[in-house]
Amino acid sequence: MIDINRLQKTSGIIGNTEAIQEVLEMIVQVGPVDITVLITGESGTGKEKVAKAIHKSSKRTHEPLIIVNCGAIPEGIIESELFGHKKGAFTGAGDDRKGYFEAANKGTVFLDEIGETPLETQVKLLRVLENGEFIHVGDSKTLYTDVRIIAATNKNLESLVKKGDFRQDLYYRLKTVSIHVPALRQRVEDLSLFVERFALEFTRTNDIVYRGFMPEAIRLMKQYNWPGNVRELKNFVESILVLEKGERVTSEMVERKLRPSLDTALQNPHLPVLVDQSPERVENELILRQLFLLRQDVELIRKIMNEQARGNDTLHYINESVQDVPVTMEIDSQADTLIRPDAIGDMTLEDLEKEAIKRTLKFFNKNRRAAARSLGMSERTLYRKINDYGLERKIKRKYEKQSQEDKK
Ligand SMILES: Nc1ncnc2c1ncn2[C@@H]1O[C@H](COP(=O)(O)OP(=O)(O)OP(=O)(O)O)[C@@H](O)[C@H]1O
Ligand SMILES: [Mg+2]
Repeated sequence: MIDINRLQKTSGIIGNTEAIQEVLEMIVQVGPVDITVLITGESGTGKEKVAKAIHKSSKRTHEPLIIVNCGAIPEGIIESELFGHKKGAFTGAGDDRKGYFEAANKGTVFLDEIGETPLETQVKLLRVLENGEFIHVGDSKTLYTDVRIIAATNKNLESLVKKGDFRQDLYYRLKTVSIHVPALRQRVEDLSLFVERFALEFTRTNDIVYRGFMPEAIRLMKQYNWPGNVRELKNFVESILVLEKGERVTSEMVERKLRPSLDTALQNPHLPVLVDQSPERVENELILRQLFLLRQDVELIRKIMNEQARGNDTLHYINESVQDVPVTMEIDSQADTLIRPDAIGDMTLEDLEKEAIKRTLKFFNKNRRAAARSLGMSERTLYRKINDYGLERKIKRKYEKQSQEDKK
């Protein structure tokens, strides 16, 4: 059996706090045993890293690990993706196709965001979990696969069961062995370790001089809530190093960069600071911020158009109105509508939605999961809308990306 120190080295899972040491102990214990594991924890806490470490410490380590993001595959094709299909099973099914479960035979399937799986598919998952049986879409022959399943979710599956959105039998089957990955704010003692590691890796690969973080900077970072957990911290460290061009990072620099996240709505001093708030609250405020920004833009466009209609010098007006923005766009907490009545008639819901999606994605550094949550839509819906609005090139299957990475 491998020990925790070795596991930390091979898996790259950082952390000395008891919380993370318990996670590592669990991996050491359950890794080599061929059982299903459910990994829970907020977004960005390292669930995928844990899943990979489990696979690595199992007997299946030399066999494939296929990562499936259940939340991102459109409902219409999820079964064919997972279980494969027979030629002619549906329009476009020109050939027989193997699904992930077949492709992963002898290896592991990591079902990420299992809570997003449609109910009808859950029955079929349960069957694979219990005895490895599955059927190609459009066929009736029972096939067998030998896979180990690791599932992950940042949702509370128990409450999904109560709402009728998740099958109870599948939930019970999954939760027998579960590993909870704690939020970063519950293990801030590890923050400096993370910062050092991420900073060193980043500066080394990008040839940037690294002069370290001041202790006060670290202290300030420990006070922040980190709703995006380790992922957010990693992005933060990398971007501050770029922005500050390799200078030693001071608490002022950290404060300057954290401020937009700490304050809401464009440094409005009347709005609360986010430190020590629940992730839900933080998210709500981020959404508000996006809406305010959006309202500003609608307002600005509206003004320009009005001026144009009156035949004024538009360029001159743009300059003026840009300067005007903070004054005319003051957030009026008393207002009961976000869109001013005079903007009505010039915009469609689609315009607003497209803009909101674009900005939210930008705000969350293209992290679709965080963006979807902040916009109050499922990741699947967000993926569809990104495609519909042509906001990004077609989304690649995560599994394809993974296998390409594995080949490298
Ligand atoms: N303990 C850790 N040590 C080192 N890096 C970590 C650790 N935890 C997370 N990371 C890094 O943070 C990022 C997010 O981790 P990961 O993708 O595993 O999170 P997740 O819980 O699966 O998130 P999501 O729910 O959004 O899918 C990755 O870059 C990962 O390498
Ligand atoms: Mg993940």
